[in-house]
Amino acid sequence: MSAVKRYLAPMEGITTYVYRNAQAAVYGALDKYFTPFLEPHEKRSFKKRELQEILPENNRGLFVVPQILTNRAEGFLELAASLQDFGYREINLNLGCPSRTVVSKGKGSGFLAFPEELDRFFDAVFSELDKREGGDGRLRISVKTRLGMERPEEFPRLLEIFNQYPLEELIVHPRVQQDYYNNTPDLEQYRLAQRESRAPVCYNGDLFTGDGVEAFLAEFPETERIMLGRGLIRNPGLLAGKMTEQEKRECFRRFHELVLEGYQAWNMGERNVLFKMKELWFYQIREFPGAEKTAKRIKKAQTLGEYEAAVRELL
Ligand SMILES: Cc1cc2nc3c(=O)[nH]c(=O)nc-3n(C[C@H](O)[C@H](O)[C@H](O)COP(=O)(O)O)c2cc1C
Repeated sequence: MSAVKRYLAPMEGITTYVYRNAQAAVYGALDKYFTPFLEPHEKRSFKKRELQEILPENNRGLFVVPQILTNRAEGFLELAASLQDFGYREINLNLGCPSRTVVSKGKGSGFLAFPEELDRFFDAVFSELDKREGGDGRLRISVKTRLGMERPEEFPRLLEIFNQYPLEELIVHPRVQQDYYNNTPDLEQYRLAQRESRAPVCYNGDLFTGDGVEAFLAEFPETERIMLGRGLIRNPGLLAGKMTEQEKRECFRRFHELVLEGYQAWNMGERNVLFKMKELWFYQIREFPGAEKTAKRIKKAQTLGEYEAAVRELL
């Protein structure tokens, strides 16, 4: 298992730089961290929050891969160039987001419904990159994808397209857009990706516990890279190796403190800090069976004082 590369999935609003720094400080750094998606916009400069995410001083010692959501090659290349100016050498394209507003614009997993356009997008991106500097400075492009829009049978055609381009890696979340997060990952399509993909494949989807990860790797022993989202948010120590209950609790307490301090330092107001922390508890509370009453207190907390008292009780 130690040879398997482990990544933190991008999760909008959740896997911020505050979160990844706290996770790495307490549990040890993972192999890669993906930023929640950035979108190209008219002005070339970054908004404050975007800038915070990508500033090198906010990501020291971490392998961070910025993610872009778009279906326009030009916008992608421009934003990628700005990210390159910050020192990034690898960029991820989001072909997985299932949200209606994104999909209706033909972006995220919505882009998968237009294979010809997708092919043209990659063609434009890679021919432009070929023209730019080569050698070590060359930008590497990875893809995070679902299997298609409606049916897993769409995937082989998409894989053919991916295989025409020198992708750094292909991260597969084996669901279709219409699944959102329902149903179960289609492991046969993951098997196909492993067998047929020219780029190295990373598996993503529904790995929620240490046992779950082990069982998955036993079933797919050729897996070299895994990406975890909700499982790691639920238990940020999930990939950190065996710990006693006491150690687990101690680490989580420190982790929680770092995240809370980090968000307080954002100067976004008490309400927003509370919102951010409560969003995490939606996942974290699953690691505290039988704590329904305290969970309710956390949810209802109106001030940081109330919040911290409830969390203290839990920890
Ligand atoms: C709240 C939330 C926000 C997400 N934001 C992003 C995102 O910005 N970019 C992306 O590629 N995937 C995003 N995802 C998808 C995750 O990266 C991941 O693919 C998905 O949760 C499946 O992995 P898991 O089962 O390990 O959680 C998001 C998922 C959730 C639940």
